Amino acid sequence: MKKHICVMAGDGIGPEIVSQALRVLDKVAEKFGHEFTREEALIGGIAIDNTGSPLPEATIEACKKADAVLLGAVGGPKWDTIDPAIRPEKGLLGIRKALGLFANLRPARLLPELAGACLLRPDIVKDGLDLMVVRELTGGIYFGKPAGTEVRDGKRTGFNTMIYNEDEIRRIAHIAFKAAMKRKKKVCSVDKANVLDVSRVWREVVIEVAKEYPEVELSHLYVDNAAMQLVRDPSQFDVIVTGNLFGDILSDEASVITGSIGMLASASLGTEYAGLYEPIHGSAPDIAGQGKANPLATILSISMMLLHEFDLKDEAMCIENAVRKTLQDGFRTGDIMEEGKILCNTTEITDKVIERL
Ligand code: IPM
Ligand code: MG
Repeated sequence: MKKHICVMAGDGIGPEIVSQALRVLDKVAEKFGHEFTREEALIGGIAIDNTGSPLPEATIEACKKADAVLLGAVGGPKWDTIDPAIRPEKGLLGIRKALGLFANLRPARLLPELAGACLLRPDIVKDGLDLMVVRELTGGIYFGKPAGTEVRDGKRTGFNTMIYNEDEIRRIAHIAFKAAMKRKKKVCSVDKANVLDVSRVWREVVIEVAKEYPEVELSHLYVDNAAMQLVRDPSQFDVIVTGNLFGDILSDEASVITGSIGMLASASLGTEYAGLYEPIHGSAPDIAGQGKANPLATILSISMMLLHEFDLKDEAMCIENAVRKTLQDGFRTGDIMEEGKILCNTTEITDKVIERL
């Protein structure tokens, strides 16, 4: 297979983890006889520094032409005081919108090898934790109009609009139910229908879509309760489907309770252009450039890319198994270090994965 990948390393630890993950991709290509050509594009802070924009037109063009997009991370203190209209985060939001990546899949799983890193009591996670947040990514309050800041009655005032139409809800609901069909056939839709009108429409439409998936068990939770249930009894969840803002929050919560946010990958998918794959963690400016970053989430993002974008199941499994074997053999980066394990830097742990492919 021959595919072309647009690589956006971004800021902070982005370049370190992406370059290591690409070594894994090259090895897989060699092993299975594929050719993955690449081109680099700028996004986030580095794009601001070089072009004045967090999402240059050339980057959008490169992503639109690619068969898949790999992203490191964006942002850092250097750009925290910049004009909000060109913050690094705008690059990320902009590329999601430009590529129509409305579905964000964020799996959170507690690997048995890392059970010791879990932030919850062992009795709470005795049945494991293996869920996927399906977050709507191009709508809701992140993009709703009107939005802005102005002076009203002499007071500085900020406002945003949480808005979804039924088409936007329907398409993300289908993604969630389809994902559940390949998993444990449970969908929990998270909203705030006791307060928000937008959530009442959300719930209505999700219930309609559910009729097309009679095998899938649908439940509903208000977002405050969902946040609580995630730490009280996380094994009750299979697929969680929710809007942009609630999904942003709950996916961080779900991933951090596994204790290893440095391990979690994500996919952002649309219909018109290729998908974007990225680790869930951010740019970690505090450890950038020190060789300490955990590249495993980016390596697993490549595995997700091979599976979702190119339908290369064996290749994807090969990477996942190599990562697990690396952990089983006791190798760790600082973020998941435990007593008695072998501490590796970014390159060393990648070497261990490559040896095990
Ligand atoms: C995420 C991040 C982004 C978001 C930020 C960086 C704009 O938190 O991908 O979850 O809020 O979507
Ligand atoms: Mg977030």
